[in-house]
Amino acid sequence: MCGIVGYVGNGSAREIIIDGLKKLEYRGYDSSGIAFGTGNNLEIRKCVGRISNLETLLSKENLDSHIGIGHTRWATHGAPSDANAHPHSNMDESIAIVHNGIIENYVELKEMLINEHGVVFKSETDTEVIAHLLGVLYDGDLEEAVWKAVEMMRGAYALVAIHKDEPDKMIAVRKDAPLIAGLGKGCNFVASDIPALLKYVREIYLIENNELIVVTADDVKIYNAERKPVTREVFHVTWDVDAAEKGGYDHFMLKEIHEQPKGLEDTLVRRLNDNGEIVLEGITMTKEDIENFNKVYIVACGTAYHAGLVGKAAIEKMARIPVEVEVASEFRYRDPFVDDKTLFIAISQSGETLDTLAALREAKSKGARVLSVVNVVGSSVARESDDVFYTWAGPEIAVASTKAYTTQLMCMYMIGLYMGLTKGTITREFYDSYIEELKAIPGKLAKVLENEGAIENLAKELYRREHVFFIGRGPDSGVSLEGSLKLKEISYINSFAIAAGELKHGTIALIEQGTLVIALATQDKLFEKMLSNIQEVKARGAYVIGVAKDGNKDIEKQADKTIYIPECIDEITPLLSVVPLQLLAYYIAKLRGCDIDKPKNLAKSVTVE
Ligand code: AGP
Ligand code: GLU
Repeated sequence: MCGIVGYVGNGSAREIIIDGLKKLEYRGYDSSGIAFGTGNNLEIRKCVGRISNLETLLSKENLDSHIGIGHTRWATHGAPSDANAHPHSNMDESIAIVHNGIIENYVELKEMLINEHGVVFKSETDTEVIAHLLGVLYDGDLEEAVWKAVEMMRGAYALVAIHKDEPDKMIAVRKDAPLIAGLGKGCNFVASDIPALLKYVREIYLIENNELIVVTADDVKIYNAERKPVTREVFHVTWDVDAAEKGGYDHFMLKEIHEQPKGLEDTLVRRLNDNGEIVLEGITMTKEDIENFNKVYIVACGTAYHAGLVGKAAIEKMARIPVEVEVASEFRYRDPFVDDKTLFIAISQSGETLDTLAALREAKSKGARVLSVVNVVGSSVARESDDVFYTWAGPEIAVASTKAYTTQLMCMYMIGLYMGLTKGTITREFYDSYIEELKAIPGKLAKVLENEGAIENLAKELYRREHVFFIGRGPDSGVSLEGSLKLKEISYINSFAIAAGELKHGTIALIEQGTLVIALATQDKLFEKMLSNIQEVKARGAYVIGVAKDGNKDIEKQADKTIYIPECIDEITPLLSVVPLQLLAYYIAKLRGCDIDKPKNLAKSVTVE
């Protein structure tokens, strides 16, 4: 998921690769490394932490070459450590590889390599299996070995390999992870992303899925999956580095909003086996543990807390167990009822939020079993939990969380389903139909994104407002909080979210002629109640933007404008309904000239109290 840079030519591989890796730093990473082909040997240097640590390591010796491959790692399998950093090599260290992505059948391959070839592993990564696989398959031709390995590997990868006995060649292959080749004069490059190369080349080949490339100093050959040579048009990059980092989007936030279908698909599919069963690989919680819990606490901050509110409804409904959701900064100081029958769920994108970590420690000290829902592998929350349910959102860079939220929701539904099925509080039929509904979400979310233009136009109408109210009932009330937070943190508009039925108990006093109200009415069961709430604010002069499911046209009788989302069961509408709110916040903030990716006063990871 992070960065790759490879170089072959008559320049300094060390300088070019380090420079390229630095250009990919914006994506976030936890370790870095580099392998040089030195004629008759390979030299690998790698370490955890910033690229500057790698530079310090390299500065101790005079190591350089005409060929090398470099990597920044964003850990998925195994914590960030020197040993887990890439490049990885085979037993006799004749091959070095760097890899972005995940090898899904790595356990199976690892067992085969250990049992049949006596391979000894040095890291906990999935990636290391590729290095050993290539070592076992190598018979004098690296390209041939990579072709064979590709047939045996499942998953997603951008992979680059070099061999000590083929000192002028890099072999790279791509499946579901970005890979490009850069075309220089007397030198060529591979990389995971354009910004890495812009200082050196602007002529690029965009490599397609299942293609393999053979890169030497004076040639880049591309082959398709049938091993037929492919002619590719040269892509001339006209963007500047800044635009290139964001994949052509104006901001990371917008890029990350658009990455949600992929993130949700990955989060769901990676935990489902061929029978549609949720597999808790790496999670040690047993059936007995689940039956033993008499209470669940979900504790988190900000957006992750909002994901917890939706999680409460899912777990209570499916596993029939009381769930309390609380912000971490409150939980940690109030001596909560926690014992060894408590399941404590911490939700955190970064895994480094101090309040969440402190709450987790508090719960653990009182005997709770800790399950965390985390995006960053090997982060503090992940390390200190009994079990981790990872979101597969990929690195989130914008301060305003978007894809982390929706993938956290996906995890919460899956945890609810798993607990419910294990306890027998839901039937297999219910479970199967729910999983089908979840599987359809990435496609439906892509449809919501097609409506972006309409939301941008709405933002043009609304961006000068100074006060906004978000209202909703049931799951919509949690999404209202998230929509409101998104708007306030990036546009600095004073926004407020409240359960729609609670309005009449005070807040309605603030509604006057022209007040903007965003009313979420996606719940079939509560639709008529919401229409009444909209009526209440309309009667006091509010201007109402409704959010409803396709087909619930009655909302148009009450709301001034409506945003529709595709049909789905009531419980999971948050996965879709939050997206127009993210886009609305984004376009409003953009029209107000705000610094969207780095809003004032905020940090991506809040590691202080
Ligand atoms: C989200 O847009 C915010 N920037 C913030 O509320 C964030 O969700 C919160 O600080 C928790 O962060 P975490 O998920 O990394 O723990
Ligand atoms: N799955 C690999 C690992 O955990 C690659 C991670 C990456 O893409 O950076 O090492």
